[in-house]
Amino acid sequence: MQKIIAANWKMYKTRQEARETAAAVAAALNEQPTPHEVVVFAPFTAIAEVADAFAASQAQAGAQDVWPAVEGAFTGEISPRMLQDAGAVWVLTGHSERRHVLGESDELVGRKTAFALEQGLKVMLCIGEKLEERESGQLEDVLRRQLDSGLPAGGGALEGRFAVAYEPVWAIGTGKVAGPDEVLATHAVVRRLLCERLGETGNRIPILYGGSVKPANAGKLIGLDNVDGLLIGGASLDAQSFVQIIRA
Ligand code: PGA
Repeated sequence: MQKIIAANWKMYKTRQEARETAAAVAAALNEQPTPHEVVVFAPFTAIAEVADAFAASQAQAGAQDVWPAVEGAFTGEISPRMLQDAGAVWVLTGHSERRHVLGESDELVGRKTAFALEQGLKVMLCIGEKLEERESGQLEDVLRRQLDSGLPAGGGALEGRFAVAYEPVWAIGTGKVAGPDEVLATHAVVRRLLCERLGETGNRIPILYGGSVKPANAGKLIGLDNVDGLLIGGASLDAQSFVQIIRA
């Protein structure tokens, strides 16, 4: 399966900063293409800049969130069609900051995922447990609940347009990367849950790891069984650091 290396820029970068970083990534990929799929989840205001900078490269632009409606009275929200118009191919749903800082429910994450897929966006659904959930033995329950509510019904058409990013909440932005044993074991659980839900197709859904991925640990992580890609926050803001991770 083709691996996916994805940047999550969160609420960083003006349009000009985004254009410069994306242009540097595109130049590096044009000089030396990668077998991986490369995606940058940019802030809404910078998606068009990133998509333009990536136009003549193998990389693609994505958005960090979406509202599950075609259009309407949803002040402050953004529709799949608006994202596509700006050049987004992918969208993230259920990022831990949306769940735990902005208070998004499992149910809303599920509606966003299903609607974005229906409207033709590729979706990367983020799941992951908090430290107290892991320590109290709830890891599998949490992942099962987030997958059950996040996966759209009738999963047949998911292949090639849906990915799961496993990001332990305690490893995001903390510098505390999950150890190889934890990543290996947890990705095996996610794979099993996907197959329980989707049958054979579950084996062909990419599972990305995210949480304090850096150039120094990316090579080891990407080599683990059932790690089909990486989702990178802090270390993706700098083009060189992101390209080093792509090449790791
Ligand atoms: P981090 O963020 O790499 O800065 O830990 C990852 C993410 O939130 O997707």
